[in-house]
Amino acid sequence: MKGIILHGGHGTRLRPLTHTGPKQLIPIANKPVSQYVLESLRDAGIRDIAIVLGDIFPEKVKDYYGDGGKFGVNITYIYQGKPLGIAHAVGLCESFIKNDKFVVHLGDDLIKGGIKPFVEEFEKSDYDALILLCEVKNPERFGVAQFDDEGNLIKLVEKPKKPPSNYALVGVYFLTPYVFQIIKKLKPSWRGELEITEAIQGLIDSGKKVQHRFVKGWWKDTGTPEDILESNRLILDELETKIKGKVEDEKSIQGRVHIDENSIVEKGAVIRGPAIIGKNTRICSQAYIGPYTSIGNNVIIKRGEIENSIIMDNCQIDIDGKITDSLIGPFSNIASNNKDKPKGCRFIIGDKSQIIT
Ligand code: DAU
Repeated sequence: MKGIILHGGHGTRLRPLTHTGPKQLIPIANKPVSQYVLESLRDAGIRDIAIVLGDIFPEKVKDYYGDGGKFGVNITYIYQGKPLGIAHAVGLCESFIKNDKFVVHLGDDLIKGGIKPFVEEFEKSDYDALILLCEVKNPERFGVAQFDDEGNLIKLVEKPKKPPSNYALVGVYFLTPYVFQIIKKLKPSWRGELEITEAIQGLIDSGKKVQHRFVKGWWKDTGTPEDILESNRLILDELETKIKGKVEDEKSIQGRVHIDENSIVEKGAVIRGPAIIGKNTRICSQAYIGPYTSIGNNVIIKRGEIENSIIMDNCQIDIDGKITDSLIGPFSNIASNNKDKPKGCRFIIGDKSQIIT
């Protein structure tokens, strides 16, 4: 079986972070979202993987994953450019897939425990498609499944105003090459995209065997800042303590904390887990790192309190107060105003930044 990871798309809801890179490279617990996806495919035994690239810094994706060797897979890059739809992106992979069965995994969807059991089931089966569903509170944000009275799947609707059920389509689709014939006949939807839901509907309508399974653990589509922070919490909930860096006073570490190589936690600092600290980072004596915080590589936290937040690589923070529920992009510098100057906030921020005080 082969794999396809979708790495294109708009990323509008994650601006300004997506002004400098694709949303799938945003780190959650210090690992890009799409790396969880790639590892999930690899751990299910899939070695040949196509990554579909969009037009938001595609070279950053290639730089990160290379030929896949570092991650134990073989990667083929397929360029989509403008996001003309998930089914469009899949259609571009026809010559990569050839006659194999395959799985399409959106590069920003995370599933607890990965997809191995579904890969095994689909590989052995005679299904034309296997889709995954998950009960959600806000089905209008997703593709939604409709069932008949006997519980048979009869219809899939993309982002319906009146959802026929609370079961959302998870962004993982198991398919056979037959779907390419359907994709070729699709027309753009109201949002101008070739919809994967319509392609699967096409399989149902032509009498093909489309099976569905329910995801038992959590599933997250990481399309908004809130989703990213929630995914960060879910992943940190499973974190195990590992101290590779230097902790000057072990009283600094409370609960489950992971600290990577060459990082230093100075005496007086407090890190209350679950929290993860990357490489070459310094947590200084006047810093407090609270639960559900991920701090990247080459960061200096000089002063201040940080909780339920993601601080990406190469940031510097030196503040009087507290940062909470925040996503701080790479190379950001946040400092408190000098006391002898007039009090107030001083900002140098880019397009579509958000500040909530
Ligand atoms: O997350 C699950 C949902 O994903 C499903 O329930 C929906 O049926 C499905 O349409 C999709 O909805 P979204 O609106 O969340 O899709 P989004 O535009 O965010 O794109 C999903 C991923 O696919 C994202 O990683 C970007 C990538 N993508 C998207 C498009 C439209 C591409 O690589 N190329 C594209 O043309």
